[in-house]
This record gives sequence, C-alpha cells and structure tokens, in this order.
Amino acid sequence: MKKIVLFASGNGSNAENIILHFKNIEQTKVIAVFSNNPEAKVLDRAKSQLVATFTFNKLELLEGQVLEKLQQLQPDLIVLAGFLLKFPETIINAFPNKVINVHPALLPKYGGKGMYGMHVHQAVLSNKEKETGITIHFVNEHYDEGEFIFQKAVSIESCTTAEEIAAKIHELEMCYFPQVIEDLLVKTKEN
Ligand code: GAR
Repeated sequence: MKKIVLFASGNGSNAENIILHFKNIEQTKVIAVFSNNPEAKVLDRAKSQLVATFTFNKLELLEGQVLEKLQQLQPDLIVLAGFLLKFPETIINAFPNKVINVHPALLPKYGGKGMYGMHVHQAVLSNKEKETGITIHFVNEHYDEGEFIFQKAVSIESCTTAEEIAAKIHELEMCYFPQVIEDLLVKTKEN
C-alpha cells in the first residue's frame, strides 16, 4: 500500500478532499494529517474521516520531532495542502522527490514568502490579471520554487473580488489535486 501524509495549517478543504478521493482507491491511503495549528479545522475533518492527526509547534518542526515521526511512518508522499510554514530542508532531504505542494497561483508569479491564501488572490486582483490558476510542484528549500508537476489556468475576467477568485481556485484544487497525486504515485511505482 502507498502511504500519504498531509500537512495543513487551517481549513483543510483540500486535505479532506484528498482523504475522500483515496478512500475509493485500494492501494493508496492517507495515513495521517500533520498540523502546526492545534485549532485548525483540518484536524476535525481528519478525525471525522478516522485519519490520525499529529500536531506540532514550529520548534518541533525545526528540531527534528516531526522528521522522527515521519521516519516512523515512512510515507511514499508528503503533501502540503494549505501548509503555511516553510518546510524544513532536513525533511526534504530525508524524503527526496516525495514532498509536493499546491500553490493557488500560476507560479512563478505570485509566489514566495507572504504569498499564501487570500494574499495571493488580492495581489492577482490588484494587478488586474485576466487569468490565474493553480500550481502543484515539488518542494525544495526555497518558497514555491521546486519543479512544477502540474498547472491549470482559469479566466478571472468576470471576477471583481478576491473572494470570487478564491472560489475559482478552490474549484480547480478540488477537481485536479487528488488526481495529480494519484498519477504521481503511479509514476513513482513504475520507476
Ligand atoms: C489553498 O487554496 C492552497 O492552495 C493555499 O491555501 C489554501 C488552503 O485551503 N496554499 C497556499 O497558499 C500555500 N502557499 P484549505 O485549507 O481549505 O485546503
């Protein structure tokens, strides 16, 4: 069985959607949700789907307790789904090509430190972009700079608020993110 560990910091709509997707797939399961935020809604979502949860603080992320826990679990893929802290190099190096992230814009535009969630959509709106989209990419030591796995664009010419843009992005994430993960796991099986 292929094992996925999710990292999320807040709401967790992507995490829940990924959990549900893999409930229908025999050879792959989400085995745990990790969060740096003990109040995050994602933890309730995981618990209600009977997925194990693990919370940690920034120090534990940087000092090795999170890495230790991951080494016990030996995931085939670590998926950052709305995880808002910088991911430590030690974990990336321990799991080469096994850490991926979804970003709510067409990278390399609107990436980097401070560019997350509504900040991204607000910037896209302020710049009067005609389209935006999602980028799923490998995670490296720099914010939002790892190799791209998938991008999908959407027209936002009809959008007048950041919330409307967020809704379009949400639709793309719900539609594509689980399938991209599934395809990636099939590919790594072949290699
Ligand atoms: C998602 O739109 C995701 O792309 C974004 O946070 C949202 C989390 O929503 N991630 C980033 O901005 C990372 N830079 P969710 O908690 O409902 O899945």
